[in-house]
Amino acid sequence: MYSQGLIGADGSTTETPEFLERFQRRIDAEEKIEPNDAMPEGYRRTLVRQIGQHAHSEIVGMLPEGNWITRAPSLRRKAALLAKVQDEGGHGLYLYAAAETLGVSREQMTEELLSGKAKYSSIFNYPTLTWADIGVIGWLVDGAAIMNQIPLCRCSFGPYARAMIRVCKEESFHQRQGYEIVMTLAQGTPAQKAMAQDALNRWWWPSIMMFGPHDADSEHSDQSMAWKIKRFTNDELRQKFIDATVPQAEYLDLTLPDPDLKWNEDKGGYDHGPIDWDEFWRVVKGHGPMAKDRIKDRKAAWDKGAWVREAALAHAEKRCARKIAAE
Ligand code: 3HC
Repeated sequence: MYSQGLIGADGSTTETPEFLERFQRRIDAEEKIEPNDAMPEGYRRTLVRQIGQHAHSEIVGMLPEGNWITRAPSLRRKAALLAKVQDEGGHGLYLYAAAETLGVSREQMTEELLSGKAKYSSIFNYPTLTWADIGVIGWLVDGAAIMNQIPLCRCSFGPYARAMIRVCKEESFHQRQGYEIVMTLAQGTPAQKAMAQDALNRWWWPSIMMFGPHDADSEHSDQSMAWKIKRFTNDELRQKFIDATVPQAEYLDLTLPDPDLKWNEDKGGYDHGPIDWDEFWRVVKGHGPMAKDRIKDRKAAWDKGAWVREAALAHAEKRCARKIAAE
C-alpha cells in the first residue's frame, strides 16, 4: 500500500512526493487506475469534474434534439432520432455511474449542474431552429464528440475508459445518421439545400469551440495530459476535426463559413480563422442563447422524477431488509 498523505477538512492535500512519484510511474507504464486504488486527490477531482461535465452534456444534449422528435419529417426519421436521444440518455447514465465510483453521488452532481456550479458543453446552449439543425448536430456535434472521445477510451481511469468504448460506437452511428440527413437535404430542392447551408453556418463555429480554449489558455490540459486523462490537447483535437470535416463539406457541396480556411502544405492541415472566444466564454459562463431554458427544463425533469427515485430507494431498502432477515 502506498503512503498517501492526508486530506485536510478544507480539501487540501499533503501527499508525499514518494506517493506522487509511484502514482505517476503507474500512469507512465499505462496501468489502468481503478476506483479502489490509491490516487492523488487532484487526479480524483479532475476526473469527477470532467466525467461529471461529460455526463451532464449527454443529458442536457437530449433537449435540443428531443424537441424535434414530434416534428421529424417521416416515421423513419422519427424512429432514428428517438433512438439517438435515448442513446444519449444511456451515455449520461454510464458516465454518472463511472463518476460515482470516485465517491460522488448522482444527486450531488445534478445539484451542482442545477446550481450552475458544474458545467456542461457550450454547444447545447444554441437553439435548433429547423430540421436541418438535427442533421448538422449529428454530423458536426457528434463528429466533434467522437474526435474528443475516441482517445478517452485510452484514459488512465478504468471505468471512464471502458464506458467510452460503447459510447463511441453509438456516437459514430449518430454522426453517420446526421451526415445522411444533411446529404439528403443538400441533394434535395434548392430550398432544402439552403436550409442545410443555413444550419451549417450557425453550427460550425460553436462546434469548433466545443474542443475548449486554445492550449495556451487551457487551465487543466497539461496536468490532464500528464495523468493520461487527456491524450491530445484541445487544439490538436480541433485540428483533427477540421481536417476531417472540410472534405465532407466539399462532398456535400456546402460551404464552411470561414473565409480563412485554407490548406497549409507545411503543417499538413487546414488553417482556420480566429475563433470568437468572447462568445465562447459568455456561453460557458451561462449566458448562451438557450442557457436558461436548458437548466429550467433539466430542473423540471429532475423534480418530476423525484417520486421514481423515492420509489426505487424504498424498493431497494425493502429488498435489503428482507435479505438481512433471511440471513
Ligand atoms: N463547454 C463548456 N465548458 C468548457 C468547454 C466547452 N466546450 N471547453 C472547456 N470548458 C471549460 C472547462 O471545463 C474548464 O472549466 P472548469 O475548470 O470550470 O471545469 C475551462 O473551460 C478551461 O478548459 P480546459 O481546457 O482547461 O478544460 P479541460 O482540460 O477539462 O478540457 C474538454 C475541456 C476538452 C471539454 C474536456 O473536459 C473533455 O474532454 N471532456 C470530456 C468530453 C466532454 O465533456 N464532451 C462533451 C461534449 S458533448 C457530448 O459528449 C454529447 C454527445 O452526445 C454529442
